[in-house]
Amino acid sequence: MTPSAIGSEIRPIQWNGQYCTLIDQTALPHRYTTVEVRTSQQMAEAIRTMIVRGAPAIGVAAAFGMVLGLAEVGPDADQAACLAHLETVADSLRRTRPTAVNLFWAINRLLEVARTEGASFQHLERAALAILEGDIATCRAIGKHSLIALPETPHRLRLLTHCNAGALATAGYGTALGVVRSAWEAGRLERVYADETRPRLQGARLTAWELVEQNIPVTVLADTMAGHCLARGMIDAVVVGADRIAANGDTANKIGTYGVAILARYHGIPFFVAAPWSTVDLTLEDGSIIPIEERDPGEVRAIDGTVVCAAGVDFYNPAFDVTPAALITGIITETGVYAPADLRTGAPTSR
Ligand code: MRU
Repeated sequence: MTPSAIGSEIRPIQWNGQYCTLIDQTALPHRYTTVEVRTSQQMAEAIRTMIVRGAPAIGVAAAFGMVLGLAEVGPDADQAACLAHLETVADSLRRTRPTAVNLFWAINRLLEVARTEGASFQHLERAALAILEGDIATCRAIGKHSLIALPETPHRLRLLTHCNAGALATAGYGTALGVVRSAWEAGRLERVYADETRPRLQGARLTAWELVEQNIPVTVLADTMAGHCLARGMIDAVVVGADRIAANGDTANKIGTYGVAILARYHGIPFFVAAPWSTVDLTLEDGSIIPIEERDPGEVRAIDGTVVCAAGVDFYNPAFDVTPAALITGIITETGVYAPADLRTGAPTSR
């Protein structure tokens, strides 16, 4: 049964004290199924294969991967042995996906707790649960702050988004879709336009599913159609999530985001990034040094298992691109809305 059918909210990662239950995002929208993850290796595999995906969600998942890792150590292991095993687990989780900094942030947080408070199951479980619950609160705060950033229009808002930065991509509620949900709850939203987001179709498969689950009007566009809709005055603002934001505001997000940002600027439409502070990487001066994941070329070669190109063709499959800060109207975080140039100060431009 889907979350709406049982009257609850979408929660992609649940912890029952012993193992995690993940919504299998590779099966949506055709089948709503869950997967039980009982070992750190299973968690690394679930992140790598995108059963769980989206920057904040893979951070939360990795945190529980560390908890599961600790449970794999024998009962007689001392602090040093626990820490050594946790370092190994951390390495394997870090190798799953390179771009979203939330993954590294969450792993480092759990290692810090193990080093400073002691590598006990209770300490690590409490830290992972705090990340999970904190993420939901963060998403709600992002939604609240977005209400002052979104343009005032004579009609209700028509928002364009790319990929899935929703409840599925976080612990719940979503970042870009948190903005959508807040606008909807405030009676300010008319409709969401969701880019289908080739090659993995997160917009068509996941964003559309989430919004339909909650009765929010959604229109799916092939990625090639965004320019046409912007030119026709069909969109009031663009809102996307982020996988890593450099200190100057350059933002890595799902491949295709950069093109949408250029189109929005050309048509004078505001372009917002919605993300938690755990996505901001102040150690990187600008976006040129953000590591960009390259995935299996087969994802471009075939759509839903059907090969769409002649044999002998080569493929290129970068999973993310970097939108320059100059194209970003505002970065909406849990502490307020930042002009990209103000990120380094830590003081929001408005809140
Ligand atoms: O490859 P994915 O599906 O993990 O990519 C997800 C995105 O690019 C999201 O927009 C981003 O992680 C923000 S999720 C709140």
